[in-house]
Amino acid sequence: MGRKLSPEEQPWCIDKVSGKVLINKGVENVCIDKSTISFIDGFHSKLYYRGYSIEDLAQNSTYEEVVYLLLYDKLPTKRELTDFSGWMREERDIPREVDELLCKIPIDVEPMEVLRTAVSYLGNLDPGRYDTSREGMVRKTIRLVAKMPTIIAHWYRIRSKQDLVCPDPRLSHAENFLYMMFGTRPDQLSARAMDVSFILYAEHEMNASAFTAVVIASTLSDYYSAIVGAIGALRGPLHGYANVEAMKQFDEIGSPENVDKWYREYILTGRKRVMGAGHRVYKTYDPRAKIFREYARQFAEKAGGKVKEYYEIARRLEELVMSQLCETRNICTNVDYWSGIVYHAMGIPIDLYCALFAASRTIGWSAHILEYIADNRIIRPRLYYDGEVDREYIPIENR
Ligand code: CMC
Repeated sequence: MGRKLSPEEQPWCIDKVSGKVLINKGVENVCIDKSTISFIDGFHSKLYYRGYSIEDLAQNSTYEEVVYLLLYDKLPTKRELTDFSGWMREERDIPREVDELLCKIPIDVEPMEVLRTAVSYLGNLDPGRYDTSREGMVRKTIRLVAKMPTIIAHWYRIRSKQDLVCPDPRLSHAENFLYMMFGTRPDQLSARAMDVSFILYAEHEMNASAFTAVVIASTLSDYYSAIVGAIGALRGPLHGYANVEAMKQFDEIGSPENVDKWYREYILTGRKRVMGAGHRVYKTYDPRAKIFREYARQFAEKAGGKVKEYYEIARRLEELVMSQLCETRNICTNVDYWSGIVYHAMGIPIDLYCALFAASRTIGWSAHILEYIADNRIIRPRLYYDGEVDREYIPIENR
């Protein structure tokens, strides 16, 4: 028999005010650093990137401008934006070796896992991979942000046995992604909705994937390892993959008439969670969901059919969530609830939605890596040891 440690033997786990063991499971409400990148006011449905409200950015900005803003902490002048967008356009192509690698991956592999593999390989091929200067890190960021949509579009076309479409430097980041997917220029609504979706998913403070990136970067590991780690964290259904799960949930419900029955059967009994609802920080409606919802409405009106059906299912389920879960337990619909319907309306297959989230968020991860390592301290939390010490080692023949 060993012996258990007392809390006094682990004083770092004791709260100085209450004198009790304090465990921040899920690192809830722990501030790990100061930041100027984004701010979430989860009680008043507000989100700011570098001080600018998400509504303003979604209404007036472009993804290229938001990337600039997040990187340099200021809005660009016209000239700066033209130069910066030109730089991003030049970086869109991915090396032939990455396309060859994509061709070797089984077509039923999850797109997020494909993305992880491709980004890791891109890192091996990046001539600046060992440049840890701020300028070098910024160059890698721009290179990768520009290439992420190309990886996704190429993967989509490879697995559906279609010829690859090269990036078109005359098109914006968002338009070009849809062009590389489908080989034709998108209509106005799709182009704008895609751009707004890139903006809405660009950054979101110290969430699980950003934290993963920063943890890796804090060991002074390389940029690509940090991003690959972040992609892995985002891939979980409690985080970015919720936008895929939300669509599967709408499919499972099947029709607007079935929503109430499904809700009684699965949510009221606690057998399932509403995917695309609940948030660690937002205790009211996620402001990004509101913007996506409006685009979903516009697409539903325009396209009808399956898009309208998804929209009607989502609308009825949201009514139940908002009047029951949100009202009493602050579990309200979040960004991942509505985004999938918007992507679906543009013809993008459901399993790619989390990868699109990752493509948008690469700038947010990169901004956090840059900010954190500028004044680095290795991230090294503790655990409260609840096991025994001084257990007697018994030779194997005597056990
Ligand atoms: N549906 C039903 N019940 C829920 C939900 C939900 N979506 N979310 C939380 N709850 C309940 C949960 O069952 C728990 O109940 P109880 O106290 O009775 O055990 C309580 O609310 C607290 O849940 P929690 O898991 O401790 O809360 P958390 O802050 O740790 O989790 C969350 C946040 C996002 C993981 C969670 O709300 C969830 O699983 N949501 C569904 C997945 C989802 O939509 N994720 C996307 C999040 S937003 C975008 C992003 O960051 O990726």
